[in-house]
Amino acid sequence: MQEKKKTDIVEKIVSLAKRRGFVFQSSEIYGGLNGCWDYGPLGVELLKNIKEEWWKFMTYREDVEGLDASILMHPKVWEASGHVENFSDPMIDCKQCKSRFRLDILVESINAKKKKKYLQDFSSKIESKEYIERIQSLKEDEDEINTVFNTLLEDENYNKSLLAEINCPQCGNKGTFTEARQFNLMFKTFIGPLEDTSAVVYLRPETAQGIFVNFLNVQGSSRQKLPFGIAQIGKAFRNEINTKNFLFRTREFEQMEMQYFVKPDAAQNWFDYWKTERLEWFKNLGMTTTKLRYHDHEKLAHYADAATDIEYEFPFGWGEIEGIHNRTNYDLSRHEQFSSKSLKYFDEETKEKYVPFIIETSAGASRSFMAFFVDAYFEEEVNGEVRTVLKFHPKLAPIKAAILPLVNKDGMPEIARKIEADLRKNFKVFYDDKGAIGRRYRRQDEVGTPFCITIDTQTIEDNTVTVRERDTMIQDRIAIDQLKNYLLTKILG
Ligand code: GAP
Repeated sequence: MQEKKKTDIVEKIVSLAKRRGFVFQSSEIYGGLNGCWDYGPLGVELLKNIKEEWWKFMTYREDVEGLDASILMHPKVWEASGHVENFSDPMIDCKQCKSRFRLDILVESINAKKKKKYLQDFSSKIESKEYIERIQSLKEDEDEINTVFNTLLEDENYNKSLLAEINCPQCGNKGTFTEARQFNLMFKTFIGPLEDTSAVVYLRPETAQGIFVNFLNVQGSSRQKLPFGIAQIGKAFRNEINTKNFLFRTREFEQMEMQYFVKPDAAQNWFDYWKTERLEWFKNLGMTTTKLRYHDHEKLAHYADAATDIEYEFPFGWGEIEGIHNRTNYDLSRHEQFSSKSLKYFDEETKEKYVPFIIETSAGASRSFMAFFVDAYFEEEVNGEVRTVLKFHPKLAPIKAAILPLVNKDGMPEIARKIEADLRKNFKVFYDDKGAIGRRYRRQDEVGTPFCITIDTQTIEDNTVTVRERDTMIQDRIAIDQLKNYLLTKILG
């Protein structure tokens, strides 16, 4: 009955998201702004519910405090964090037509047949027997061609001569590319009236640094002792060049990050703890278990002792939705060094002073939105017709209940409006009296409303209504004065 076709599902979701007011292209009437999206009436509810569930899960506990740091921070923060130096992608310029390309995007845009030709031309000009043999043995296997091409591009002995074979996609000339240079992904702006280098500030590319620099402020004011965490939800900005796949990689997005400060020798245990907790969070909100997995990093960043990604199987493949890192004492030590302020913690038990280790959990709110949306999307055949349904967990569903008078007469609208007014105090509800009841149910299924409350003839007689559950389509008969409790129990579980 249930079917999800991988190939067109993203297209269907983008279209549904727009049609039903979840997500719109930013500045659409001006042709859109690449990598930026606007959340419509239902999207903003879903996103808010995801963030709220994260906030409750992460901060409604004794050992985690909340924070909302500013987006603009002292520029030295980004020197200390390493972002000024290292947060970059390789770019190349065409010396002839002055066009600029991100190297990986340029390479991705060349088809396998052309890549093979470039490699063959290139092989006649090099001496490496190993590479010549690999190129000569290439057949039509696209993956193999891409692997050989990328290997050579990453080899500093050969990348220049391979680049010299490629035609500029803009002007068509060959041999006109500069060497690849690093392009920083941080958005720059100026603080104050002067637009000079002394006034440069960055739109934060992650929320984490706002937490690191506030470590002692939060610890001192909340009188927390290690281990404890600081959680924050907020916007982050990255000048990504490759922004495909809807909300997966955007230039403006939201992160939900928590940094957990621990004694160095307890770091591994806490890493394992948060790894488990975070996967459970996605599962508890209904995400399909078989579409979730850990991806442990073998190659670690210079500051990390352990790292894993929680990945979701999107229609275009597995993709990271959250990263969990043991960041050691790298971040606080760097901020000590750059600010010349001590960020050491005094351990009253051992009477020692040390820089804590940090376990980071870093999830994308917008990327989780996309994962929850994709995961909830189903097309099912019901009585010979296709019903599109978003099976959101009731906690995440934008609208919790729809109130539907069966007909617009016999006192039904009056009762329905009264129910609506009562429930609206506690829940986001929707009143709909337009069209046949079956069509109204379908409209609610399509936006993921878990409960449809119908006021019918029997309501007039005994003050009961039917409550139709979205996934099973089973209807319960409930007394009107029990509706609030019924919904609360069903939503909270
Ligand atoms: N503080 C660590 C950090 O920022 P990251 O892996 O770069 O780590 C963490 O980002 C999470 O933020 C990712 O798992 C992803 O969910 C989200 N994210 C990162 N870049 C994104 C982008 N361009 N668009 C949407 N979400 C993004």
